[in-house]
Amino acid sequence: MVNVGINGYGTIGKRVADAVSLQPDMKVMGIVKAHPDYMAFVASKKFKIFISDSKSKKLFEDAGIKVEGTMENLVDDSEIIVDATPDDVGKLNKPFYETHKKKAIFQGGEDHDLTNLSFNSYANFKDAWGASYVRVVSCNTTGLIRTIFPLTELGKVRVRANLVRRATDPNDHKKGPINSIEPDLKIPSHHGPDVRSVIKDLDIQTMAVKVPSTLMHVHFVNVTFDKEVSRDDIIENWRRYRRLMFVSGKDEVKSTSQLMEIARETGRMRSDLYEIVLWKEAISLKGSELFYYQGIHQESDVVPENIDAIRSMMQLKEKEDSINETDKSLRIGELAYGR
Ligand SMILES: NC(=O)c1ccc[n+]([C@@H]2O[C@H](COP(=O)([O-])OP(=O)(O)OC[C@H]3O[C@@H](n4cnc5c(N)ncnc54)[C@H](OP(=O)(O)O)[C@@H]3O)[C@@H](O)[C@H]2O)c1
Repeated sequence: MVNVGINGYGTIGKRVADAVSLQPDMKVMGIVKAHPDYMAFVASKKFKIFISDSKSKKLFEDAGIKVEGTMENLVDDSEIIVDATPDDVGKLNKPFYETHKKKAIFQGGEDHDLTNLSFNSYANFKDAWGASYVRVVSCNTTGLIRTIFPLTELGKVRVRANLVRRATDPNDHKKGPINSIEPDLKIPSHHGPDVRSVIKDLDIQTMAVKVPSTLMHVHFVNVTFDKEVSRDDIIENWRRYRRLMFVSGKDEVKSTSQLMEIARETGRMRSDLYEIVLWKEAISLKGSELFYYQGIHQESDVVPENIDAIRSMMQLKEKEDSINETDKSLRIGELAYGR
């Protein structure tokens, strides 16, 4: 049983904490919060609460939230930390984990250079075997790697992808845009180079826009193969990967709203959709060029990757066994159906 500490209990941290709790080989030692808000109160019903700054102890106690200790105490109690603090805070925490000689996983808001080891379960599980510091790539990068990695098994590919990004997460009342479309003026956007932090030497360029939605990201992807492949081969190969899921407009699944409805209706925890969704009829092959759309639930697709990264770093299970265990616990693959 591996003792896991969760530093940060926002969009990603709270999901990883619950996912760790579901694993037979892991235990949550506690979570770190910075503010004594309602979420801290909710979290205290399930987990031990540790605080990022000892000066805020009284604020937590005044709010009726029992504090077990500071982040330092949680790090001492844990064998591995999942750092799910805001972008660029993880890099400030890393020296602290190093001093305490503890392994840590960082998220996609940190740079690759922080760990020099960026992770995706399908593409490079074994690279993290026994490693001390690993970064699970962002939601968009995870989505791209999930569909592109299986394509690289069929031939050499050149990828051009356009990303339509949700403005912010559903619980956020501050960020936008709320009535505009905001292109990422840096071309290529950071996502293409980020995919290469896992699939080295991949020919990929990306562009991105942000739109006023909180539900999911949608990518349009264009992949050119260096040899002949058939649409059937592509789909059959994708079908081998449970973290991909096909839907069809014929079944009235035509938008991200309906994808989220599937997650709600099927009783997924927090309405999460860990799978990357492919619209089957839109998968088109013109000569050696493949075109497809994919939907990405930004709040949850990186959660299974965090669990597998723990198993690889702690040398608990080999790739397939870990993925199977994670998927079973999160009901991944259950929503797949025929067409
Ligand atoms: N949101 C997404 O869609 C998404 C998807 C994939 C990857 N990621 C990445 O995952 C990481 C976490 O993102 P998130 O969206 O989960 O962030 P978030 O919702 O803002 O949550 C961050 C958490 O860290 C806590 N925290 C701990 N130490 C902190 C400190 N020193 N300063 C401020 N907060 C501190 C916060 O506590 P309080 O709640 O008490 O303030 C909060 O619980 C980022 O690297 C992000 O890029 C995010």
